[in-house]
Amino acid sequence: MTTTIDGAADTDGTDTIGTSAADIEFHYDLGNDFYALWLDETLSYSAAVWDGIDRAEPDTAALPRAQRAKLDLHLDLAGAAPGARLLDVGCGWGGLLDRAVRTGRAAEATGLTLSRAQHAHVRSLGLPGVDVRLESWDAHRSGRPYDGIVSVGAFEHFATADMDAAARLAAYRAYFDRCHGWLRPGARMSLQTIAYDGVTGGDGPVGAFVAAEVFPGAVLPRLGEIVLASDPYFAVTVVRASAEDYARTLGAWSARLLRARTEAERLVGPDGYYRYRRYLRACEVTFLRGAATLYRIGFRRRDEPLRPAG
Ligand SMILES: C[S@@+](CC[C@H](N)C(=O)[O-])C[C@H]1O[C@@H](n2cnc3c(N)ncnc32)[C@H](O)[C@@H]1O
Repeated sequence: MTTTIDGAADTDGTDTIGTSAADIEFHYDLGNDFYALWLDETLSYSAAVWDGIDRAEPDTAALPRAQRAKLDLHLDLAGAAPGARLLDVGCGWGGLLDRAVRTGRAAEATGLTLSRAQHAHVRSLGLPGVDVRLESWDAHRSGRPYDGIVSVGAFEHFATADMDAAARLAAYRAYFDRCHGWLRPGARMSLQTIAYDGVTGGDGPVGAFVAAEVFPGAVLPRLGEIVLASDPYFAVTVVRASAEDYARTLGAWSARLLRARTEAERLVGPDGYYRYRRYLRACEVTFLRGAATLYRIGFRRRDEPLRPAG
């Protein structure tokens, strides 16, 4: 069943106004063992932070360090501190939840995912203070306020390609409205997302291949849409753009997948392996060409929401 933007039609926690749970499972439930072959040990499935990592060291070896730097950057942007209560919207395989509680930068961390395989994996870790839910952000309720929110690589799923500009803005605005409601006054939030940066978006051959065979039901935002949608609820404190960070991460993933070819083909078959090799290379080229970029955005919650400008 489909959920309306005001959430009125919720029947279970996985109904969503963005990418459907079925489309999420198509991609993320291909097999935890397969993803573990080529992601780093934190199982981060989003662009790493490569600042200060010398090209002399192979990126495949430096990837875990670059991913930990990314996790720490987001914990900083969300104001994580001892005793904090954090929410991770789109928590993947739990790398940020793990880092937050293990380093003492949160006492409690809640993660949301629509992938059954990810949910089962995070639960199996048995992390103290971590609560992982198979639940969409638009179904999430919390009895107590959070001190910070992080969302990394999930915003691309918060609207769908068949929405027009007004419907996308309404979906994004509904997300920021919810975040505002979940956070305590003065709290901070961080967001990492891929965004279109070219004149056209998503209608070339790479976009068509990715939409049909890799990420059905997802759509990339533009920076202007994010700012317009968030402005009533949050002041933007930081914007960092780095297409290079994603190109480098994709290059490292490609190289790791190539090295693990035999095992990957055993797990997902030669067609599955080839599809992922094509997808990783095609996306790397998209970032290198400047057709898409990566944003990391820091926000501070406004005490009183402003009247929407658009
Ligand atoms: C590319 S993965 C990123 C995972 C993780 N943040 C990371 O950086 O490794 C996208 C995540 O967003 C989640 N997601 C997508 N739509 C969602 C929704 N409506 N509510 C909650 N999570 C969602 C997926 O289940 C998946 O865990």
